[in-house]
Amino acid sequence: MDIFQITAQELLDSRGNPTVEATVHLDRYTRVSGMVPSGASTGKYEAVELRDNEPQRYRGKGVLKAVRNINGIIAPALIGHDVTDQRGIDQKMIELDGTENKSHLGANAILAVSIACLRAGAVARRMQFYEYVADVFGKPAREPFTMPIPLINVLNGGKHAIGSSDFQEYMIVPIGAPTFAEATRWAAETFHELKGIIRERGWPTTVGDEGGYAPPVESNEEPLKLIMQALERAGHTPGEDIAIALDPAASELYKDGKYHLTKEGMSLTSAEMVDLFVDWAGRYPIISIEDGLDEEDWDGFALLKDKTQNKVQIVGDDLFATNPQRVRIGIEKNVANCVLIKANQIGTITETLDTVHLALDNGLTAIVSHRSGETEMPFEADFGVGTGVGQVKIGSVSRSERVAEYNELMRIERHLGGRSILAHFPFTGVAKA
Ligand code: PGA
Ligand code: ZN
Repeated sequence: MDIFQITAQELLDSRGNPTVEATVHLDRYTRVSGMVPSGASTGKYEAVELRDNEPQRYRGKGVLKAVRNINGIIAPALIGHDVTDQRGIDQKMIELDGTENKSHLGANAILAVSIACLRAGAVARRMQFYEYVADVFGKPAREPFTMPIPLINVLNGGKHAIGSSDFQEYMIVPIGAPTFAEATRWAAETFHELKGIIRERGWPTTVGDEGGYAPPVESNEEPLKLIMQALERAGHTPGEDIAIALDPAASELYKDGKYHLTKEGMSLTSAEMVDLFVDWAGRYPIISIEDGLDEEDWDGFALLKDKTQNKVQIVGDDLFATNPQRVRIGIEKNVANCVLIKANQIGTITETLDTVHLALDNGLTAIVSHRSGETEMPFEADFGVGTGVGQVKIGSVSRSERVAEYNELMRIERHLGGRSILAHFPFTGVAKA
């Protein structure tokens, strides 16, 4: 089926900042849209999100230039193109842009169209979205679908919740759950126990950008203690039923060669940061650490991976920026065993899927991830199931833009009936809690 028309408009994301929506029209009556998310702790190797920089509109964050690039440049070039030729469509946009980092047309303009085409392709082929993603990804049709294990954000800090911890994300991972729906229930129950504990301390129970609580904790270790207490109250065995994952987003804490922790009033070297995580991993059931070090600190990453004996998932987010060139360097230097996958870091669906293949083909794991500024349209749910990577990071079990992903995954699991299996988490952690 060919693309009949493409239109675009400026809408809002979950933080109330403008974002781009592209709509692919397959005929006069069939339209399918794609919206792009946006990060706050963005890595410097990410593709460029084009903003208007006109201070009088949305404090400079308007995206009318990106919208005009879709309407005026991308649409005319793609009208008449087969909507199911995802690689050809993305290649055409990469050529039209002509830059390394998509700064000419904007990665937000390009990705909005890329996502809209992916969704429209599913409609054209009369497939479920996750089935179509699997098809484009190249999953053999006979293999069963794998439901991903969610990494659920229960406590926000850093740039996502000013006043809370320095570290950005404390997550729980229901590694012992039998199904995705049960994993979600366990997480929601633990989340509400955590709320009770925070309330008992007399702290506000407000939530941050990704829906986790954002209490004014006194140290960066305190959230781990709160989570352990919440697990106990919810009746889950730490490390067996539910484990812990961290995303310190350490690039945000790194300045002049040191990591600055305001809660502790300390500045740590790279080796000291590694020691902090190794100490925690020995005392808490931590099975995954994302961006524990700065995006340029390859040696720190390698040391952390080594000192946690490959028993902890060491995840590169800002480090890799979903960019195959950076993932290749990471493989050569042996610095991480997992790649965080965010489509808007690289800017097209095809390149995102290529990065997933690169990671998996080289024995690394991958996590399909949202951004802190999200849209109401679930995307990572189907993308996670379609690629079969086994893990998704889609925020807390609160705030509708996050819950939309959990709900979509529960629908998919039900739709698959007995034909899906919940992924097995491949790392045990160092501690035996
Ligand atoms: P971001 O945060 O979307 O603000 O970059 C998410 C993450 O760091 O994983
Ligand atoms: Zn991150």
